[in-house]
Amino acid sequence: MLEPLTHIGRDAATGGYVRDAWSPADMELREWFAGEAARRGLDLREDRNGNLWAWWGDPSRSPGVVTGSHLDSVRQGGAYDGPLGIVSAFAALDLLRERGGTPGRPLGVVCFTDEEGARFGVPCMGSRLLTGAIEPERALALTDDDGDTLADVLKRAGRRPESVGRDDETLAGVGAYVELHVEQGRGLVAHGRPVGVAAAIWPHGRWRFDFRGRADHAGTTRLADRDDPMLPFARMVLAARAAAERRGVVATVGKVRVRPGNANAVPGHVAAWLDARGPAEDDVRALVAELAELAGGHEVSEESWTPVVGFDPALRDRLARVAGGGGTPAPVLPTGAGHDAGILAAAGVPAGMLFVRNPTGVSHSPEEHAEQADCEAGVVALADVLEDLCR
Ligand code: GLV
Ligand code: MN
Ligand code: MN
Repeated sequence: MLEPLTHIGRDAATGGYVRDAWSPADMELREWFAGEAARRGLDLREDRNGNLWAWWGDPSRSPGVVTGSHLDSVRQGGAYDGPLGIVSAFAALDLLRERGGTPGRPLGVVCFTDEEGARFGVPCMGSRLLTGAIEPERALALTDDDGDTLADVLKRAGRRPESVGRDDETLAGVGAYVELHVEQGRGLVAHGRPVGVAAAIWPHGRWRFDFRGRADHAGTTRLADRDDPMLPFARMVLAARAAAERRGVVATVGKVRVRPGNANAVPGHVAAWLDARGPAEDDVRALVAELAELAGGHEVSEESWTPVVGFDPALRDRLARVAGGGGTPAPVLPTGAGHDAGILAAAGVPAGMLFVRNPTGVSHSPEEHAEQADCEAGVVALADVLEDLCR
């Protein structure tokens, strides 16, 4: 089922996927989703925030059980992060139909928009707007690398920027949400199990550091006369690593923009993005405060923050039991990765997640992988879980 997606947004040189929200690749993926919904006779709706919902049954009559994930990717991402949850959702629905019977509750497949935040910097934009976790004004003013705002991009895609924001009507249809995702670690390898359940999502956030200096000639400017922003930037990167080790968290600088970008000039401006996460919010906050202090007079701004999310314990245990297939319950694992399920959980929707084993644990990379047999085990577990929740 992933096969028809393999060419979409793929960089032939690296094998990685580049599927920014609202890019031509994303539009093609959304078309594919609509086609899968139509083939199954599902009722397709796009909500005010660009999230796609394919319903079997009518959620306006009674809240439904929803499963799904996202189709956008990080830049040079893998094939599974997001799409596995969506194809598994459709496959689980097919399996339920094969088993016969009609679910006692409406069943929905969702594709959340812009989960990765690769283009505008804020992750889980579709679910944040839906639940009101981000102000529409702030979201619409965010810019991509070309300087286009989200509002511009939505307009160009034929959407209505003035309509985005908290959507109680759509939310009321979501009685429970279960997201299946490729594991982004080796927890299931250690357990020797194909499928697990999420316990909690670490608190995490993104911060932008703007180091400003003065562009100047690389050959003729004496070292003592330079105001080189690359130096405080480099100090920040090394300090982030040291502070992360000391505080038991993770910190990453994965994106940096150097302007004007001449090999033969001292740069005038270095913008760098810090991603920091950890089991305890205080430790993550303390790391960021430490780095902000080190950055001195340079500007530091918080682009996103997601507090710790503990998934509904009753639902979590139920998922573990059902996904265990009548044997030992599926292992319950914490994760450092963010997901729309976490945003919904924070908004009070009973939510949970299933993870499918990733043999190397590598993710956000073309190397990301899951074995076919494990993906199939994931579909069966998801179908069992949906059947149980729809009773
Ligand atoms: C989403 O994949 C994240 O960055 O955790
Ligand atoms: Mn991801
Ligand atoms: Mn994901």
